[in-house]
Amino acid sequence: MPDNLRPNAASATGQDPGTALDKEQCVVGSARYRPESGPPVEIEVVITAVGARGDGIADPTGAGNVGQRVFVPLTVCGDRVRVRLGPAHAEGRRGQVVTWLARGPDAVEPACRHFGRCGGCTLQHLGDPAYGAWKSEQVTAALARAGFGLDRPVPLVRTSPGSRRRVTFSVRCRGGAVAVGFNERLSHRLVDLEQCPVLAPELLALVPLLRRGLVPVLPEGATAEVAACRLEGGVDLLLIGPSRLDLTARQALADLAEAADLARLSWQADPKQPPEPVAARRPVLARFGGRPVAVPPGSFLQASAEGEAALTAAVLAGVQGGAVADLFSGCGTFSLPLAAVAGRRVHCVDGNGAALAALVSAARGLPGLSTEQRDLGRNPLSPEELAGYQAVVFDPPRAGAAAQVAALAASGVPVVVAVSCNPATFTRDARRLAAGGYRLVSALAVDQFLWSAHIELVALFRHPG
Ligand SMILES: C[S@@+](CC[C@H](N)C(=O)[O-])C[C@H]1O[C@@H](n2cnc3c(N)ncnc32)[C@H](O)[C@@H]1O
Repeated sequence: MPDNLRPNAASATGQDPGTALDKEQCVVGSARYRPESGPPVEIEVVITAVGARGDGIADPTGAGNVGQRVFVPLTVCGDRVRVRLGPAHAEGRRGQVVTWLARGPDAVEPACRHFGRCGGCTLQHLGDPAYGAWKSEQVTAALARAGFGLDRPVPLVRTSPGSRRRVTFSVRCRGGAVAVGFNERLSHRLVDLEQCPVLAPELLALVPLLRRGLVPVLPEGATAEVAACRLEGGVDLLLIGPSRLDLTARQALADLAEAADLARLSWQADPKQPPEPVAARRPVLARFGGRPVAVPPGSFLQASAEGEAALTAAVLAGVQGGAVADLFSGCGTFSLPLAAVAGRRVHCVDGNGAALAALVSAARGLPGLSTEQRDLGRNPLSPEELAGYQAVVFDPPRAGAAAQVAALAASGVPVVVAVSCNPATFTRDARRLAAGGYRLVSALAVDQFLWSAHIELVALFRHPG
């Protein structure tokens, strides 16, 4: 058993063993238990499923008979474990493994030494066939909850280890040293990164350079984030926080840009402020539909080139000729390939003006492409505005597109392509489309958040009317 899966390893829930339990009262079967006056509760359970956040779920009627589902990180189906019960939450209780009694057939050695502590991955302990089936099942189940039952699992497109091109590191300065990595799960504690099999090598190579280069930039005790994206031209880096940069800090950032051979380094005092370029060494370009797009600092881009290619192919396959609205278009990941089809009109709508400006310049000479800056949460396109389109593509942030989908469901637009990185909000939005008469034609799961519980999906709907 790897060290990080041993009972004494730091908790993947970010909780020291026993601390939360000691403070709360819990229910075991029908009996009330007051931990303040007794030892922590430990029970033996068998894992019978892996839940939507990647934790094993113990059958509530199993050996422990706890009367509630118990969610146990780092376990697989068939694991028999002794767990210490942690806090209750809406769906059951948390449990932390104290003793491994038997491992299920799907358990494998994790690919990374940080697995079990690092909050970035939750599923490296799951063997590949079970992992792929689990990812696909997240999308199949989301569709079923929305009322679209399928007779076979949704197909899954895989992406490779080392292909993740966009990342946000947490950084922290303590005792004059800078730590760079990811937070532990459900915690603000930082895992100082030594390896990461998910990241593109160019992004992982930044870690030691950031550790050294940010020492003169971050005041003692400061935390900040570093968003990095590998694009044509090199790595584009955005430092979010600290709130001020003096001359020494600016010089140190310029030195960091040189040392790391960054294409660009920008600084944002906080996420509400516009980014300010500190070092611009080479153009930072993405390429959509064969056109170079000069992306602004901090732009949204799909997490991997492989994932972007799979999503774009699915969007293009779903949309035939005619006028298309690309809602939540960003810098044009889908809009530019859609507009490359001769004679097609594509209207791109997004709330981010800088992203749309980049899209406008990239689209020079494409007569059919128009853009509109608009808050689609407060001011969605109405059914009347949607009426002229043959197809609508929408790719909202994790919160989904409730207001826009309500209008879409009433519009009767013949084809709707939904792209989503959140099965929960997708379910809500898809249910609304179903209520508007839309039928599911096809769906695809894209695993571009490798070994995490996140999944990207594309679903194609048609209106019969
Ligand atoms: C998941 S990204 C998708 C971008 C693009 N489709 C792509 O694949 O690169 C979501 C986009 O929604 C935009 N967005 C977020 N909230 C919005 C809102 N309330 N109204 C309009 N656009 C919004 C963001 O600016 C971002 O470009």
